[in-house]
Amino acid sequence: MTLNSSLYKILIIDFGSQFTQLIARRIRELGVFSEIISHKKIKSKDINKFIKGIILSGGPLNVYEINKYSFDKKIIQNEIPVLGICFGHQILSKLNGGRVKKSKHREFGLANIYKKNESLLIKNFFKNKKFAKVWMSHADQVSKLPKNFRVVASSQNSKYAIVENKYKKFYGVQFHPEVTHTEKGKIIISNFIFLICKIKKNWSVKNQKIKLIREVKNQVGTNKVICALSGGVDSSVVAQLLNKAIGKKLYCIFVNTGLLRKNEEKQVLATFKKKLKINLIYVNAEKEFIRKLKKISDPEKKRKIIGRLFINIFERYAKKIKNVKFLAQGTLYPDLIESKSVTGSETSKIKSHHNVGGLPKKMRLKLIEPLKLLFKDEVRKLGLELNLNKEIINRHPFPGPGLAIRMPGLITHEKIKILKEADYYFIKALKDHGLYNKIWQAYAALLPVKTVGVMGDNRTYEYLCLLRAITSEDGMTADFYEFKKPFIQMISNKIVNSIRGINRVVYDVTSKPPSTIELE
Ligand code: XMP
Repeated sequence: MTLNSSLYKILIIDFGSQFTQLIARRIRELGVFSEIISHKKIKSKDINKFIKGIILSGGPLNVYEINKYSFDKKIIQNEIPVLGICFGHQILSKLNGGRVKKSKHREFGLANIYKKNESLLIKNFFKNKKFAKVWMSHADQVSKLPKNFRVVASSQNSKYAIVENKYKKFYGVQFHPEVTHTEKGKIIISNFIFLICKIKKNWSVKNQKIKLIREVKNQVGTNKVICALSGGVDSSVVAQLLNKAIGKKLYCIFVNTGLLRKNEEKQVLATFKKKLKINLIYVNAEKEFIRKLKKISDPEKKRKIIGRLFINIFERYAKKIKNVKFLAQGTLYPDLIESKSVTGSETSKIKSHHNVGGLPKKMRLKLIEPLKLLFKDEVRKLGLELNLNKEIINRHPFPGPGLAIRMPGLITHEKIKILKEADYYFIKALKDHGLYNKIWQAYAALLPVKTVGVMGDNRTYEYLCLLRAITSEDGMTADFYEFKKPFIQMISNKIVNSIRGINRVVYDVTSKPPSTIELE
């Protein structure tokens, strides 16, 4: 296994944590290049002078299950500073002669940690306070420190919440500094990379733009590419990136699945064909999609059918255009981590995002996914660098399977019609009230239950509409948006009064985790 680049970097060794990508992201936000590699793939011979620091991620394993993971101990014997996070902290202690055991009290969620000793790692972290709020998620803990290690901070249930061996520059934290719930967690990461590893800033979205354009040009050569354009931020950025890289060798295909938001197809055509003058093919496949989904209510089956149908359509058009070798998609880092791990580690599968898990095993077109190592906010920044207008860039994400996954149960023409209207009123109200840009994603869903209501002295028996609006940084974690009562009252009235088929509106107040953003 060779590492990608000859840039100075922080290497993140992934043991399968859901948050590994966040570690990479925090480091990039600090302007430093970082690369993730699975613990299964890295060997000590891969360690070179470009690696200025190593981070061992968390993970679902425990250090006793030694046969479930492999890790070449020599990797951390190269005089390179190491920071272990959660499982990474435990394995670092274990490899140095410490002990790890099951915690009597598992810690999940917020905990206070108390400073015990000074350390470069916590410079400005506690400020003048004695304790700091951190986010824990562990069932095991270090029970005996290795020789030459000392405690830097403890929580009520974890004596060794932060530890160090400053001679070897080994550091361990039992909590997750990479998640936003850990207050000032970024300071820990910043101290590790700048004060301890002494790496210099070398990464920006601007650099990425140039690199990605160059890579796409090299990859495509004289061939043609089709791009699955949905009009959302991700595929729009991919289209514009490819437009800059290969111009007329790019053919964008916009598929009307019949599961789009109201007027979506008109808006996309107006923007891309008229304004940006990109080669754009409009495919109306409404009937095909609805027919294939007719008797399907299982969420994973819906996603797989939609994914396959998209690919069939792209392959059909690729044949017509001739000499098309590639299919470009706006797959992002979170899409990959939640379908299958980008690095082949043990991240557990949650759902098949249509542009990842839903792809057929045999596909004639090769994939180009230039955004697959970027997070949503990085993609937005890249969009600005590529001169896309703010309206496109600030659009809420809309998933490929569209309204199909916002309509649990069977998909019918009647339900689609009702849902399109509800979604239209909700999103319009958010825009009219200046709330749209404060919310990361919002939508209406139609639940497969009917409830009794009373309208104008008459009994009604109609569908339940669920509204969801969340705040998030990258879609990996999310919280519900707190509307003021007059707004939620107004939109509930508007939906019930204007749409035949809905007589009740509920607001989803779950965060992610434990829920996901979409319903299916
Ligand atoms: P979940 O529901 O997994 O969603 O919390 C996280 C983010 O991903 C979007 N999403 C998708 N995007 N194809 C996409 O292009 C998909 O199959 C898909 N499923 C979910 C979702 O809207 C949210 O922004």
